[in-house]
Amino acid sequence: MEILIALPKGRMADSAITLFEKAGIAENILKDISRKLVVNDHKNLMKFMLVKPMDVPTYVEHGAADLGICGKDILLEQKKDCYEVLDLKFGFCKMVVAGPKEAKDSFLTNKRVATKFPNIAEEFFRQKGENVEIIKLNGSVELAPIVGLSEVIVDIVETGNTLRENGLIVIEEIFSSSARLIVNKASLKTKSQRIKEIIIKLKEVVETFK
Ligand code: PRP
Ligand code: MG
Repeated sequence: MEILIALPKGRMADSAITLFEKAGIAENILKDISRKLVVNDHKNLMKFMLVKPMDVPTYVEHGAADLGICGKDILLEQKKDCYEVLDLKFGFCKMVVAGPKEAKDSFLTNKRVATKFPNIAEEFFRQKGENVEIIKLNGSVELAPIVGLSEVIVDIVETGNTLRENGLIVIEEIFSSSARLIVNKASLKTKSQRIKEIIIKLKEVVETFK
């Protein structure tokens, strides 16, 4: 029975692929996946797909992938219907409110918040009882306060380089994130044996390299 796995393109791709190779349940995907979006590992009966990180939960929820790897940030934003089964202990970053230094000290009413994570931002400010206007962007969010599109942003910080280079600072931390393994609900029943084996092997690697 073949197992389909959705891996995130971009900065988490190498760690995700290395994890499967270290676990001994996939071979040569790193070499092949740079050319193709789908790579078959016939020996191990696995199929790997490379998709946009934001799309991983969609593939898994619909069963187009049995398993997926994506950040906790994306899971909290999308709240898709799938199981989160393992913290993979890479892709560490923080979800923060950031802005120019002045934004930290000013108490604006009806603040504008630019973000790729509208649900997380909405929920965060609602819990604080702050009325804000959420402005949804698809990237380069740090630009928004610089050109007056918003007063602050809600975004991911990893090294802090992007904030620094754009003259922004962290105003508040919302939560810490890392890569997670997610599973399609039906697959966990129909392919139970194989999926459980994979989870155990990945867990061993995660615990060894922690
Ligand atoms: C992400 C995130 C921040 C940056 C954080 O953007 O949205 O902008 O990385 O990383 P750093 O703290 O190490 O600088 P990404 O590069 O994914 O591009 P995008 O925002 O245009 O989608
Ligand atoms: Mg960015």
